[in-house]
Amino acid sequence: MKENISDEIIIRPFKPGDLFAVSETEQESFDVYGYPRFFFRQAYEICGDLFLVAEVEGSVAGYVLGALKYNSSDVWLLSIAVRKSYRRRNIAALLTEGLLNVCRGIEVKSVSLTVEPDNLGAIKLYRNFGFVEVDRIDNYFGHNEPRIIMKYLVHN
Ligand SMILES: CC(C)(COP(=O)(O)OP(=O)(O)OC[C@H]1O[C@@H](n2cnc3c(N)ncnc32)[C@H](O)[C@@H]1OP(=O)(O)O)[C@@H](O)C(=O)NCCC(=O)NCCS
Repeated sequence: MKENISDEIIIRPFKPGDLFAVSETEQESFDVYGYPRFFFRQAYEICGDLFLVAEVEGSVAGYVLGALKYNSSDVWLLSIAVRKSYRRRNIAALLTEGLLNVCRGIEVKSVSLTVEPDNLGAIKLYRNFGFVEVDRIDNYFGHNEPRIIMKYLVHN
């Protein structure tokens, strides 16, 4: 039976004390393709409540990072990751829901993201929330690095 620990999961804004845990989550999830630790500290300075973590029994189990696109009402979901030992427990879904709720509160009109076409788990997660594919770009991140662009329309 699938374990559901939603009741014990706290979704809250990132704080500087979370830096190492988020960085470890990043490395575990994306290896050398992950953001460096200093980037998360800088993201904290500029992203505010669009940078959320999931806390489970005092430990950071995952994060989602969004950023408002310059001069627009479009937020980009830049990254989401959950520690391997906490996956398939609804944590990414709660983080996504948390980010969308923040977006509703600041009158954002849409949320965009990119995802690797092979990342079926992440694509399913986003589709569950109503994200739809709007584009597919070959070599998005360089040679042989295609990405699907997905968009969610925020209903305030
Ligand atoms: C993608 C990721 C964030 C999902 O985190 P998670 O906490 O395990 O996801 P959830 O438990 O909230 O799953 C929500 C839904 O997403 C889908 N999903 C998540 N992981 C999946 C997988 N491995 N296979 C199939 N579906 C998956 C399912 O629909 C799931 O609902 P279900 O469990 O009822 O079937 C996590 O696997 C991860 O950190 N991966 C590495 C980083 C990454 O790829 N980030 C996304 C970059 S675009």
